[in-house]
Amino acid sequence: MTVVQRRELDRDRIREIGKREEAGYRARSRRSAELHARAREALPLGVASSFQTYDPYPLFMTDARGSRIWDADGNEYIDFDMAFGVLAAGHSHPLLAEALQQRVANGTCYTFPTEDGIALAEEIKARFTADLVRFCNSGTEATMDALRVARGFTAREKVIKFEGGYHGHHDDLLISIQPPREAMGPVEQPASVPATAGMPRSRLAETVVAPFNEPDILAGILEANRGEIAAIIVEPVQFNIGVVPPTPGFLERLRELADEHGAVLIFDEVKTGVVLAHGGATEYFGVQPDMVCLAKSIGGGIPIGAFAGREEVMRAIEAVPQRDAPGVGIEQSSLAGGATRVAHLGTFNGNPLSMTAGLVTLTRILTRDAYPKLNALADRLTAGCQEVIDEFELPAYAINVGPKGAVMFTPARVTNYRDFIGLDGELWEASFFYLANRGVLLPPGADDQWTLSVQHTDDEIERHVAVFRDFVSEVAG
Ligand SMILES: Cc1ncc(COP(=O)(O)O)c(C=O)c1O
Repeated sequence: MTVVQRRELDRDRIREIGKREEAGYRARSRRSAELHARAREALPLGVASSFQTYDPYPLFMTDARGSRIWDADGNEYIDFDMAFGVLAAGHSHPLLAEALQQRVANGTCYTFPTEDGIALAEEIKARFTADLVRFCNSGTEATMDALRVARGFTAREKVIKFEGGYHGHHDDLLISIQPPREAMGPVEQPASVPATAGMPRSRLAETVVAPFNEPDILAGILEANRGEIAAIIVEPVQFNIGVVPPTPGFLERLRELADEHGAVLIFDEVKTGVVLAHGGATEYFGVQPDMVCLAKSIGGGIPIGAFAGREEVMRAIEAVPQRDAPGVGIEQSSLAGGATRVAHLGTFNGNPLSMTAGLVTLTRILTRDAYPKLNALADRLTAGCQEVIDEFELPAYAINVGPKGAVMFTPARVTNYRDFIGLDGELWEASFFYLANRGVLLPPGADDQWTLSVQHTDDEIERHVAVFRDFVSEVAG
């Protein structure tokens, strides 16, 4: 790991700027403060998902169009959060808005299948070189369902996930998301650390944790669990600890190891799918998983999820394969109960609103020719921020993979969660409030990243870089 020589920052000055900017945030968002106080009387933490809150309180939003969003005090922001990366199509794209108006007029829920659902499945098959697709309603459902299919297919129970990876909020995978340093265990054998209260201890035994970008350690972990691993699930770029790409050859090695051990390789493309490229991370990195999980961006802003994969694996939803030597298998599992196929169910699965939204988003907005524009905007934003960082010798670097990127507030490249813990949280927080107060809205978390949409413009990128420059010159000038 190369550490670039960088300036020593004045901590008192960063704290002072942070305090001043937070006070500025409070002053310009009084209505949000009132709404949050009211919300706390109706909703735990005052929000519908605990990810939606942060100190001192979240902005409450009222309107969004294109690349802009407005808060309850009427402040306008260039939105670089884009709903945790959902909106590569931008807010309320006119083509989507028009199609959805028609759809609402014609019924939004049938619990009978529609032709749009077939067309959307065909589009996903083509993009991800998959044979079969199933729809659900969120990224959480997609990874939960994919694991069950993999378990049914392999007749095995354990799964491997990577430390620092987030795959939704179900018990199987809400483990070792951002474990405290003292709990994470040695890198050769990371502990399975629950990220929530209320998780049965018994769940931890089935989720084995490995460090990202450490293929030799993974090989050892697989060997120690030989014949027991149903699936390896990975976010091809770790986008829940900033922006952490795979080191060259890592995904290829995952493919080999999964084959060697008969485990199903699952790419969690909830953030990367139809964002990094037309065919997501699968196309971007040229490595073919057995299954992909999709959600967020494929619906253009309407709730949706999907998982797709190889025929042999996905047909476990029709009938699990007969196995002569099941080992630690589904037959012995309390889950099995003699079932001969994997259940995949859901009232809202494939609902007409989501199917139409997905179809319009993928076939009319995020078409192949959208990606060069998205990438050009993102490369410009990264290059602009990096120039500022270099000019002021800030201990940080700018990085993007496709249209998703971040300034990582640490001088050394982050290759996995254990590097990520070294990020300068105070500096990140000061930058968040500084930029928000000047109309540039980033995601409210150092573990998230900006996402560009087809509706962002060059001028907006320049504005972002200019405000970032003002911030850095105050902090380090
Ligand atoms: C990589 C990844 N997988 C799964 C999920 C869960 O998706 P959802 O919030 O739609 O349940 C997320 C959400 O941020 C995610 O980033």
